[in-house]
Amino acid sequence: MGFERVANVSEIAEGGRLSIEVDDLPALLIRLEGHFYAVEDLCTHDGQPLTDGPIIGDEIKCPRHGARFQISTGKAMCMPATSGIRTFAVEVRGEEVFVSDAAATTPAKAPVEAIVAATAVPATTAAVNADGSALSPTQTALAEAETQDQYLTALRDVIDPELMINIVDLGLIYGVTSLDGGNVEVEMTLTSPACPAGPQIVHQARMALERLESVEAATIKLTMSPPWTPDRMTDEARDQLGIF
Ligand code: FES
Repeated sequence: MGFERVANVSEIAEGGRLSIEVDDLPALLIRLEGHFYAVEDLCTHDGQPLTDGPIIGDEIKCPRHGARFQISTGKAMCMPATSGIRTFAVEVRGEEVFVSDAAATTPAKAPVEAIVAATAVPATTAAVNADGSALSPTQTALAEAETQDQYLTALRDVIDPELMINIVDLGLIYGVTSLDGGNVEVEMTLTSPACPAGPQIVHQARMALERLESVEAATIKLTMSPPWTPDRMTDEARDQLGIF
């Protein structure tokens, strides 16, 4: 398909998104720092729509298990997703935004006057402090991304004793969520429901997180849905196991 009009520039405030269709595929048109991006609205991990996923910096996070995708490239940035989402080419012509099903190359920039007009519309995804004052989006995004990285780095210290691969690269971690009061909740799986090392892995994952200064208590929730499969492993893990 060629370029088709999908929205007016002023319909999307800075940091906002709009559900669109690109060649009958569900997609999101996202506005970040004055640029427009169009991405597939389907998590590659297990098909969850990304429609309501939080935007953190230049990434969108799957609301189901926490996979993150870079909005500009579609690249999968963390487990449990191992492959990226599609991106679509966007053009801004005057006040109108057009999208085609060709892959994105460079982001489309909104005209200056349209940026001024649209930023007057409150962004639905803007973060706020407890007292209602606005947080800096950049600071919020950086802090969240750093925290997630810290958790995943800690969890990489936990090694599956049968495969000798850490549980993050194995794809066992489905999501890590910061809760109030330094509490952290992890949703994870095991390579099989009967995994004899399960209790040991769960205990070590909890301890690895609770060793972090910022974590008061970690709760590990085991799930077998969706079940683990080898395609959840990172390329590094596959290399280690000799899977090509
Ligand atoms: S469905 Fe998106 S991370 Fe699982």
